Amino acid sequence: MRKIICPDYDEVCTAAADIFALQLKQKQDSVFGLATGSTPVGLYEEIIRRCETGEMDFSQAKAFNLDEYYPIEKNHPQSYKAFMDLHLFNKVKFAGTQIPNGEADDPHAECARYDAAIETAGGIDLQLLGIGINGHIGFNEPADVYPVGSHLTSLTESTLIANSRFFSEGETQPTTALTMGIGPIFKAKHILLLITGSAKAEVAKKLFDGKLYTDVPACFLLLHPNVTVIMDEAANSGRKE
Ligand code: PGA
Repeated sequence: MRKIICPDYDEVCTAAADIFALQLKQKQDSVFGLATGSTPVGLYEEIIRRCETGEMDFSQAKAFNLDEYYPIEKNHPQSYKAFMDLHLFNKVKFAGTQIPNGEADDPHAECARYDAAIETAGGIDLQLLGIGINGHIGFNEPADVYPVGSHLTSLTESTLIANSRFFSEGETQPTTALTMGIGPIFKAKHILLLITGSAKAEVAKKLFDGKLYTDVPACFLLLHPNVTVIMDEAANSGRKE
């Protein structure tokens, strides 16, 4: 696990964009695994900027997102489909983008379809991850037992509270979601984990103290041969921003 510490959030986004650029340079038709949440928003802004200046071009690349609420309508403003359209896909042209279908009749069949689609695309070259304050990656929440493949999952109290900020009063917040499993995440050739903000300092500390906490799903990444973690000072030291 390579650890890169940047002074602040903006520099984390620049460093992460550089890794995306390098991936594209090596393989124009790369398959990217993408993430939602507050953490990658600045990276997506930087990618949009570089695409506008012609520095980056995703027109031959494909993208698979990590997760989606279930059930949720695609055009619901809080769906991850809407999030990705707003923050990236409306501005950056990809050869193809996929997000687990929150409208699928059979969530289990949808997860099996999703895993097969990733395999058919040749697997993920670069997987972007954020991390929950409880250590989740995608929506692989802390548990005793982890389904390997993509699956329907119940969101923990901690995740529901953390994500409630996106839902306005009266808007129903889904309590279940479809997520890429630890297995498909692990098949990615390179994993890029971004950890920013002092709220993540505690979980970041656990990730780097040399033990594999089974109730911190991100700790499984310690076993992957090619992981880059980019953190800001706030996440690294726990100091207030
Ligand atoms: P955040 O979420 O980027 O909004 O903190 C990350 C996550 O829950 O994986």
